[in-house]
Amino acid sequence: MMMTNRVLLLLLLTTLTAAGQSLVVNPSEPVAKVSPNLYGLMTEEINYSYDGGLYAEMVQNRAFNARYPRLAEWNVVAKGGSVARFEGKDSGGPSKALEKCAELTITSVASGSEAGIANAGFWGMLVSPSTGYEGSFWARPSGVGNATARLVDNQTGKVLAQTGVPMTDGAWKQYKYLLKTDSDVTAGKENHLEIVFAKPGTISFQLVSLFPPTYHNRSNGNRPDLMKLMAAMNPHFLRLPGGNYLEGDYPAERFNWKETIGPLVDRPTHRSPWNYRSSDGMGLLEFLEWTEDLHIDPVLAVYAGYSLKGDYIVGDALKPYVQDVMDEIEYVTGPTSTRWGAERVKDGHPKPFPLHYIEIGNEDWFDKSGSYDERFTQIANAIRAKYGKRFELIATTPVKKGNPDVIDDHYYATPEEFFDKVHKYDTVDRSGPKIFIGEWATRTGSPTTDFGAALGDAAWMTSMERNSDLIVMASYAPLFVNVNSGAMQWASDLIGYDAQSAYGSPSYWAQVMFSKSLGEETVKSSTDLKNSRFFWSATVSKRRKILFLKMVNASDEEQHLSLQIAGNRAEEAKVSTLHAATRFATNSITNPHVIEPVKTTIGVPAGEWNYVLPGNTIQVLEIPLR
Ligand code: AHR
Repeated sequence: MMMTNRVLLLLLLTTLTAAGQSLVVNPSEPVAKVSPNLYGLMTEEINYSYDGGLYAEMVQNRAFNARYPRLAEWNVVAKGGSVARFEGKDSGGPSKALEKCAELTITSVASGSEAGIANAGFWGMLVSPSTGYEGSFWARPSGVGNATARLVDNQTGKVLAQTGVPMTDGAWKQYKYLLKTDSDVTAGKENHLEIVFAKPGTISFQLVSLFPPTYHNRSNGNRPDLMKLMAAMNPHFLRLPGGNYLEGDYPAERFNWKETIGPLVDRPTHRSPWNYRSSDGMGLLEFLEWTEDLHIDPVLAVYAGYSLKGDYIVGDALKPYVQDVMDEIEYVTGPTSTRWGAERVKDGHPKPFPLHYIEIGNEDWFDKSGSYDERFTQIANAIRAKYGKRFELIATTPVKKGNPDVIDDHYYATPEEFFDKVHKYDTVDRSGPKIFIGEWATRTGSPTTDFGAALGDAAWMTSMERNSDLIVMASYAPLFVNVNSGAMQWASDLIGYDAQSAYGSPSYWAQVMFSKSLGEETVKSSTDLKNSRFFWSATVSKRRKILFLKMVNASDEEQHLSLQIAGNRAEEAKVSTLHAATRFATNSITNPHVIEPVKTTIGVPAGEWNYVLPGNTIQVLEIPLR
């Protein structure tokens, strides 16, 4: 009798659990294809993303024009009573592109002492043990003799690496030097670079540079730690070069790609709309090499005749810009026999880059003149006249003319706003253009996002995955922020860093989890859950025979679920969990590992699965199918 009662009680409990709490998934009933390029990267020069970020240059304001005052980050070194001054000059620079320079005048050098210049770096310079640093500068010396270049500890004055640089009086020339640290150096960022002389005289400088080892050892290359963080996101494309950065405040401040290629001394640098001047060390070719290093495709955003302060260019006036677009496409993809393909060869990259998507402009809904239809069509017609249907053309807002293949929609929202939007694309007509969500982010937390943002992001990603027959690509923005005070223009970013280290926000980890575990098709799934803060996505990889089940519980309470997965599956699944006690929990430069995915395995019962998903939790189950 007692036994019977227990069985009844158990049955009753199971029924209670199941009622209004089931998530039903049928892995063998495909619903739609998942885009193979769904997750990617979006980037621009904002928040010191390249200068002081990904672009590994250690010298800040190397061309003496990055911001006001002109010699910001530079100091005069005048030891033992030596007398010297360093001042900006409006002319006399080493090239047409860099007409300005800075001149060091050493009036006297105390016996056995020295005078020169010092640079503080981008809020410090990371110096590590047993490491080689490649330096260079353009100079026009007179009387100062040979230079000494060195890395110095800010606090102790200890020399961490030093070398002599033989110099010859006369015309502008590029000088190179190598600094090597010993094994007993302690890694740290409170250091600076000095270039000093033992004799009086004058010397003009331009492009004073120092690079640490870079990703894949590319010269003029990228920081390895940031490249690795991006690689871990398993991205499929890079939308480049912006964003507002593509457009500039005025047409003359657009990303004028022709002025970002070739030797650095021939790049004039330009003011970015984010209020500092870009060194353009990260030029068009460097962007493309970045995609090559991550084995991803570029999504090339081309300037379309609209800039942020409202200038728009139409008709005949747009023609030179259309030609720039055509030249740019040829530079990226053209055979070596073409004019711009040959230019790419000259710049050191004979092989054309793969290109499938071209985006015409950025956020052209801001253009209140209504000129975008005309501008889009003029550029699209020129591209199609030469290349036919080779490229998918992306419009930045819906247009009545020009037949875009894809429309770029942007979303910056709070967690609640994203929770409310998760069904937005479920009912969108599939016969029109595809969708690229070229910028999106849940914006809570600063400088990088907090766990609440990760919940909003994860909810939104479930909806993008469910609709990824329509949403072909998506890229979070902004990607990067230098966390030092004064470096950030846009709060709530994905990856934070200083001169020494980098970390991923909770949103970053949510993306890593989602992007890595994605099938080729969505499968039938449904729920009768009443929790309006529960989101899920179910995709299957037939190739890998895995069901990827993603669940987000954005409420504070645990969610009891009856998981009903049809068909046979393995007895064990992989689980990846991102959890925090509150939405305000976060990672930071000083505490970078608070919220990271925890990986475990879990037994999978044969029938119905009573499952508990804790509150404030993002979880990915990888369930092998039989
Ligand atoms: O991601 C920051 C900015 O937001 C982008 O530059 C712009 O396209 C958008 O308005």
